[in-house]
Amino acid sequence: MALTIHALLLGTCLVFSILLLSVAAAAAVAAVSAVGRSTYIVHMDKSAMPATFSDHREWYSVTLASVKASADAPSLVYAYDDAFHGFSALLSEDELRSLRRSPGFVSAYADRQATLDTTYTYRFLSLDPSSGLWSASKLGEDVIVGMIDTGIWPESRSFNDAGYSEVPKRWKGKCEPGQAFNLSLCNRKLIGAQFFNKGLVAANPGIVLSMNSTRDTDGHGTHTSSTAAGNFVPDASFYGYARGIARGIAPRARVAMYKTNWDEGRYASDVLAGMDRAIADGVDVISISMGFDGVPLYEDPVAIASFAAMERGVFVSSSVGNYGPKLTSLHNGIPWQLTVAAGTVDRQFSAVVTLGNGRTLTGLSLYPENAWIQNRSLVYNRTISACNSAADLSALDGAVVVCHDTGSLFDQVEVVGQSTVGGAIFLSNESYFRFSFPGVVIGPKATVKLLKYVRTVSHPTASVQFKQTVLGTKPAPVVTGYSLRGPSASFPGVLKPDILAPGDSILASWIPTLPTSVIGNTLLASEFMVISGTSMACPHASGVAVLLKAAHPEWSVAAVRSAMMTTAAFVDNMGQSIRDAGNGYAFASPLAVGAGHVNPNGALNPGLVYEAVPQDYVNMLCSANYTRAQIAAIARLPPLAVDCSKPSADLNYPSFIAIFGPKATRGAAQQFSRTLTNVGTPGNYSVAVAPAKGVNIAVWPQTLEFRETLQQLSYKVTVTVKSPISGTGENYGAIIWFDTSGKYTVRSPIVVL
Ligand SMILES: *[C@@H]1O[C@H](CO)[C@@H](O)[C@H](O)[C@H]1NC(C)=O
Ligand SMILES: *[C@@H]1O[C@H](CO)[C@@H](O)[C@H](O)[C@H]1NC(C)=O
Ligand SMILES: *[C@@H]1O[C@H](CO)[C@@H](O)[C@H](O)[C@H]1NC(C)=O
Ligand SMILES: *[C@@H]1O[C@H](CO)[C@@H](O)[C@H](O)[C@H]1NC(C)=O
Ligand SMILES: *[C@@H]1O[C@H](CO)[C@@H](O)[C@H](O)[C@H]1NC(C)=O
Ligand SMILES: *[C@@H]1O[C@H](CO)[C@@H](O)[C@H](O)[C@H]1NC(C)=O
Ligand SMILES: *[C@@H]1O[C@H](CO)[C@@H](O)[C@H](O)[C@H]1NC(C)=O
Repeated sequence: MALTIHALLLGTCLVFSILLLSVAAAAAVAAVSAVGRSTYIVHMDKSAMPATFSDHREWYSVTLASVKASADAPSLVYAYDDAFHGFSALLSEDELRSLRRSPGFVSAYADRQATLDTTYTYRFLSLDPSSGLWSASKLGEDVIVGMIDTGIWPESRSFNDAGYSEVPKRWKGKCEPGQAFNLSLCNRKLIGAQFFNKGLVAANPGIVLSMNSTRDTDGHGTHTSSTAAGNFVPDASFYGYARGIARGIAPRARVAMYKTNWDEGRYASDVLAGMDRAIADGVDVISISMGFDGVPLYEDPVAIASFAAMERGVFVSSSVGNYGPKLTSLHNGIPWQLTVAAGTVDRQFSAVVTLGNGRTLTGLSLYPENAWIQNRSLVYNRTISACNSAADLSALDGAVVVCHDTGSLFDQVEVVGQSTVGGAIFLSNESYFRFSFPGVVIGPKATVKLLKYVRTVSHPTASVQFKQTVLGTKPAPVVTGYSLRGPSASFPGVLKPDILAPGDSILASWIPTLPTSVIGNTLLASEFMVISGTSMACPHASGVAVLLKAAHPEWSVAAVRSAMMTTAAFVDNMGQSIRDAGNGYAFASPLAVGAGHVNPNGALNPGLVYEAVPQDYVNMLCSANYTRAQIAAIARLPPLAVDCSKPSADLNYPSFIAIFGPKATRGAAQQFSRTLTNVGTPGNYSVAVAPAKGVNIAVWPQTLEFRETLQQLSYKVTVTVKSPISGTGENYGAIIWFDTSGKYTVRSPIVVL
């Protein structure tokens, strides 16, 4: 039940994902037992390759032939190179055992499946063509974003290339023909389209794919791609809601789709292959709205591939996942990439209810028909308003029924949908709005007015007008309840998530073959779709990273991430700290909101950044007692080349997490050191500390004088326990460096657990 409610809340994208995941898992189990082999991802030490081999693929094939335990040699699924040194192959347990003794073998693990996780958001993010980041980045011109997703609908207007210059010369990717997809479908906007399903096929021999090409049959990839980098599309809307000119966050960026997620399943080996290719092709930013739950970093294909990406300056942005608000549950808690949580936008899709006394109430609805119900009688009584009998409701003969809050909104919506009632007003604080009949949800405040009216009038009436889009709703942004929370189970010592971005009720391009709505029993298609999820937040952040790459091509991955985090907004549009819908609208802990809501124009000029080089991450992995082989798997090094001479858990990260545990005693202390790099003008900075409950936070020195650009200066932070720490994330504060001239503010959240 919880899952159903969640799925409905998150829109169709998640409903499909959940269904598909279980189907594919069942198929995989059957296939494996039939052939006795299953897919393993194998990490090899490339430096151990004998000189007699001309390339790594040949070496892998010979190695596989040498371990065969039956007549036919195990088959190679993929040979990886850029994201990972190694391959994936179908192996029996005996073969895997011999492989472990082969020269160059480092580690192996079984293939596994991933969890998947506008016309307006650019304005909510204050993007303006004449100033700030949009202007400085020329709308992301010529930056290439690689989407790892469910494919793309190439004919969508979001990917038209009118007015685009030639494809950048450095681009090495391609457009791969396949089912219902030929080369002429790529253009100067959609510059790459490739698909990866060998892992899926290996686990399910003989499988028939619903679409064997990069064409999207799910909608997810088309939606995320147009959110990150969709071109301008005039007259976009969802049946009249959110009408306007649609555009992505980086509307002039180039898009390359790497389809690794299939209706039939999504495997780590395919995701690794897609990311491997994206890095080799020369993308600048990778956007990946999915993750692998509960895997250690050294077996997480996203973590492994994004390490390689980071080394080459390719920025990876990923989503936290959708089953919040539990703590320690997010995926993609990977220290060398950006991890994005989902927030709401100050826009509401509404219906306006006008009561017979003239008062108007605004509720939530995305009912797609241009309906205007006028002067109908309004029915509210104990029996009828339980809304649990379609027959009772049908007897009302076109009246509008009020369904009171029984705590079973979704059951009520289903019952009303089966009746012939004229319309329904649901009293609920759920943010639900998908109706196949004239339905609207009104919240607690409007409920008071409505009940007062129906109780005092003998023949209450109401009119309802649909297709109203309300802007400027407050508070916004708010962290959504479904957005997963930190700390990261895979690496708790680095605070995750990093940032909040718009993820709720996002309008973007959709595929014409999948219905987006229903009226009665009629399925409707639309060029655009409104959906919610952390999957929708990630491409917003990816789009901002694209713009920053265009404005500051020299910045490292760490610098881009730091700029986004230290300038993030931590207050909402009411001037208060951002709130958390998953925690009764209390102020959001950094474990939910990260550094705050992404602020693109602020990120353009952060003043100072926290840099990190690949060895810093290796030092951090060394401190966590990972084995050499595990670190080697992540850093693509021969195990002997892993340098663990300076282990350090204290990564130069733009946020802090101090973990003391429930038994922490008064006086227990933890120290951090950080180095800031000046990417702004010379300036004198002073520190301010927003205190956290239960601890004392001391910073030394308290002033930093940056005399020149790229100068680096360090400081230390000591966190000392004063009283018991709750462990629920409510002990948090911030360390803020501000330039005394008032130009820059560099803010880092700190959480104590
Ligand atoms: C998918 O198409 C490719 C050619 O584009 C073909 O080689 C492959 O066998 C097909 N796979 C499946 C599962 O149909
Ligand atoms: C490619 O596919 C499109 C759409 O299916 C079609 O209109 C076009 O004629 C095809 N082009 C070639 C060269 O086959
Ligand atoms: C609704 O009914 C009232 C009284 O019967 C009438 O005055 C009013 O004009 C009607 N409104 C509409 C929009 O038809
Ligand atoms: C509730 O309203 C319906 C329809 O107007 C009516 O038939 C029924 O008697 C009412 N029940 C109560 C308890 O008032
Ligand atoms: C919804 O409203 C009920 C009371 O009407 C309240 O108890 C509950 O906490 C609310 N839920 C949320 C998530 O605010
Ligand atoms: C790593 O191992 C050392 C020595 O065994 C131990 O002192 C330390 O606590 C371990 N660190 C972690 C993070 O497990
Ligand atoms: C910073 O402070 C020093 C000493 O107080 C002063 O000489 C210098 O001019 C200041 N720099 C800037 C950029 O304000």
